[in-house]
Amino acid sequence: MKVLVVGSGGREHALCFSISRCPEVEKIYCAPGNAGIAQLAQCVDIGAMEFDRLADFAEENKVDLTVVGMDDPLVGGIVDVFESRGLRVFGPRKNAAILEGSKAFSKDLMKKYNIPTAAYENFQDPEKALKYLRTQVKFPVVLKADGLALGKGVLICNNLKEAEDGVKEIMEDKKFGSAGNTMVIEEFMTGREVSVLSFVDGKTIKTMTSAQDHKRAQDGDKGLNTGGMGTFSPSPFYTEEVDQFCQKYIYQPTVDAMASEGRPFKGIIFFGLMLTEDGPKVLEYNARFGDPEAQVVLPRMKNNIVEVMEACVDGTLDQIDLQFEDNAAVCVVLASEGYPVKYEKGIPIHGFENFKNKEGYYCFHAGTKEKDGQIVTNGGRVLGITATGKDLKEARKNAYEATEWISFSNKYMRHDIGKAIDEAESNC
Ligand code: AMP
Ligand code: GLY
Repeated sequence: MKVLVVGSGGREHALCFSISRCPEVEKIYCAPGNAGIAQLAQCVDIGAMEFDRLADFAEENKVDLTVVGMDDPLVGGIVDVFESRGLRVFGPRKNAAILEGSKAFSKDLMKKYNIPTAAYENFQDPEKALKYLRTQVKFPVVLKADGLALGKGVLICNNLKEAEDGVKEIMEDKKFGSAGNTMVIEEFMTGREVSVLSFVDGKTIKTMTSAQDHKRAQDGDKGLNTGGMGTFSPSPFYTEEVDQFCQKYIYQPTVDAMASEGRPFKGIIFFGLMLTEDGPKVLEYNARFGDPEAQVVLPRMKNNIVEVMEACVDGTLDQIDLQFEDNAAVCVVLASEGYPVKYEKGIPIHGFENFKNKEGYYCFHAGTKEKDGQIVTNGGRVLGITATGKDLKEARKNAYEATEWISFSNKYMRHDIGKAIDEAESNC
């Protein structure tokens, strides 16, 4: 089999890694890929939004399955383009990827089908949003740009002044572009956050093991929101009881709701959950693997991932038994100092050879490229260092140990990824 992966980050490196372990796969292409992916796949210099060129490539090279890792092409309709040309592709069509592409859509869906989520109102008019905020809101309040905004279109406002500034930023100054044409104003929730990724074939859903992300740039969850500074899996807060509740009231109801709306979802649904005092609620949906959630979930998956993806495409997921190792994984992101604001790129990275033949240790490339035979930094998030262990504590120790194997002059990381594990233990 020949497989084409679309994307260029740590998530796509983890996907290429899992795909490379499937015996039926003889060749992997990745567009556009990165320096780490190039060790497993042939990187192709086509951008993720160049749908026709990607489809031409898949056709010319007789690609059997294309796997789309990123949200932008999914929301933009890459799957529809591939399908219209008779090419097999894993991911939701445009009319289903809207689950991630429009927060107003997903909130209305949850309301209509009684799926637990925070109370909210949608606004197209900044004046109306301001009027609403001035009359009836409890603070903090959450403002969300409707569309895709690299995970940055969410503002938590502690008082009216901050909220007024937020409306201006999102709807008037268009800080997140057209993503801010519509805005959601949402009730602020408190609790533990958990990410649950799932495979979906239009009607059946199979959830993967849980994970937790650390979105803020600095230790202690301080600093700006980022794409994700590290993850661990499983989450000790995602108990059997929570799982049962979510299976019954959130997961299957979401898949059924999409089917009822004439938007059957095939691919990955990522449930961003908040475990509140009133029970689990949906914070957000994504239509693809999380990054860096994939980097801790995929190394623990026992199944042949291509088989599972094909079952999603064919509508036979009910015949798959998803299985995960009874262990744990932690991923620490090595970023460029200054991320997510301003940082230098093009800095040589050393130490990759330390990962050779080390079972249970992974160095996933996020923002790297090759320059004059040397791998250099090429982004804010540079590498994701994942390690497994028999439990979270061991995985965390191993992952932090492995972060020392890599050096580059502006290397930056959080030192408290998975610290919540200690808390969970002391509460037991
Ligand atoms: P989202 O992109 O919707 O997941 O939002 C990004 C982050 O903002 C989430 O991971 C939460 O930490 C936070 N957030 C979003 N919505 C809420 C909410 N209603 N209450 C509290 N925090 C929220
Ligand atoms: N790690 C969060 C995301 O992928 O959206």
